[in-house]
Amino acid sequence: MKKVLVISGPNLNLLGLREPDIYGNRNYDALVEFTRTALTDCGFEAEFYQSNHEGDLVDKIQEAYGVFDGIIINPAAYTHTSVAIPDALKAVGIPTVEVHLSDINSREEFRRHSFVSPIAVATICGKGFDGYKDAAEVLRDII
Ligand code: DQA
Repeated sequence: MKKVLVISGPNLNLLGLREPDIYGNRNYDALVEFTRTALTDCGFEAEFYQSNHEGDLVDKIQEAYGVFDGIIINPAAYTHTSVAIPDALKAVGIPTVEVHLSDINSREEFRRHSFVSPIAVATICGKGFDGYKDAAEVLRDII
């Protein structure tokens, strides 16, 4: 069975508590459960990883080489600041879908630029949890 790694960046562990008007009331465990179901429905085995630390996210992406067939990543705030994360994704060459719960294009100006988008096979934003289902379907269609 093909394997997909779902990576969540900083503060996504605080889903439910964090700015619920933007990110909703459901917590990180609910996101994991929702996304696991979506990936299972698409025929994938799923693994989840969340960290608040950029280097740990880079380590996890490097360790994915040869193990995972696809990645779904919400780099959270590192979307807008990190060069190391897209560099790692490019290095391992694993098809990656970028997801954001909120619509980063209709918020503050600094959220409009993503360093990850150029290396992602698709970017899905503004659809809440459903964006993870869309990401699973994108990966189902290409891997
Ligand atoms: C986010 C959007 C980012 O701008 C923000 O820093 C996050 C979450 C989202 O899922 O909408 O932490 O990636």
